[in-house]
Amino acid sequence: MNSISSNFEKVFAHSPDICASAPGRVNLIGEHIDYSEGFVLPFAINDCTHVAIAKTNENVIKIASVQRSSAVISIAISDISPDLKGDWERYVLGVIWALGIKSGLEIFIDGKVPVGAGLSSSAALEASVATALNSLFSLGYDLPTLARLCQKAENDYVGMPCGIMDQSVSLMANKGSALLLDCRDLTTKNISFDVASHGLELLIIDTQAHHELVDGGYAQRRASCDSVVTKLNIVSMRHLSMDQLLSKRSEITETEFIRAHHAVTEIKRVLDAVVALEKSDFVELGKLINASHVSLRDDYTVSCPELDCAVDASLDAGALGARMVGGGFGGSAIALVQAQNVEKTKLAIQSAFTEAGYKAPRFFTSLPSQGARILY
Ligand code: GLA
Repeated sequence: MNSISSNFEKVFAHSPDICASAPGRVNLIGEHIDYSEGFVLPFAINDCTHVAIAKTNENVIKIASVQRSSAVISIAISDISPDLKGDWERYVLGVIWALGIKSGLEIFIDGKVPVGAGLSSSAALEASVATALNSLFSLGYDLPTLARLCQKAENDYVGMPCGIMDQSVSLMANKGSALLLDCRDLTTKNISFDVASHGLELLIIDTQAHHELVDGGYAQRRASCDSVVTKLNIVSMRHLSMDQLLSKRSEITETEFIRAHHAVTEIKRVLDAVVALEKSDFVELGKLINASHVSLRDDYTVSCPELDCAVDASLDAGALGARMVGGGFGGSAIALVQAQNVEKTKLAIQSAFTEAGYKAPRFFTSLPSQGARILY
């Protein structure tokens, strides 16, 4: 018996009806363009959130988790509403709400995606619960629809205006590949990402920094993009060419210009990265990763001193490329590093952090892993 099931039994004194898991993610390239109908190239990491669920005849949702000392939270089904205050369980309730489930449930969660590291622990939680409920209630949603419902849970129930990347990759990723996701229609293509056989490793550096701008800053960036779309009368940044942007510069503010400049250049970088990966040209991939960081730092202004320090120290230690990942203002960076240089790179980053007086960073590595699945 697997541990999520036996943990469920310890709390609820019977077996669950279903168990599922869903992974966190890193994004190789394509940052802050999912909400502009761009392309992104994330992959699923090894670490997953596991969930076990049983249906009940009570009108109550009961939720417990390994990470919260198994204290059971009980919520009457009739109380489920975006106005209901709460903590992490709001992600679970949001999915139940978005999927329109009206049955009583007992839910046990074991989240192994590091929280607060910018590796999408919240999307992993949403995707694991959605995968289990989709199967348990035979809802028949396909993966893109399930991703949109998880995004709805986060946007409209939790209140975080995220895009569609994290939920999509958690649900749709495949082992060994990065997922080229077209955020306009959620079509995907698996792009082989086999760094190991080229003597490389993708180092994930959790800066352990969390700056206050996280929520407000993200919403402001989205608002700038929306404003450009309205002023230039286009459908999305996806429909904007660099020539058009330059010729219409006077119609938007300087801030809007640099935000749009990031979006237009980043969409191109993702497509160029796919070409580089298809040729196993990791030197070119590294250059694109570096250019992405510069654009996020200077045009989109979502980096922070700790992320810049991790990136600069990685490059000084010989990394092929390094950049911040995710929403920014803290969280993680990635560095594409020769396998034999991984320890040297970690030490260089550690000593740069010590010198700058930052909290010690944490390091992870992960190969591209499988998306959400039913465990049984
Ligand atoms: C967060 C959001 C995603 C995406 C990234 C930035 O992770 O949840 O939708 O916008 O930031 O690329």
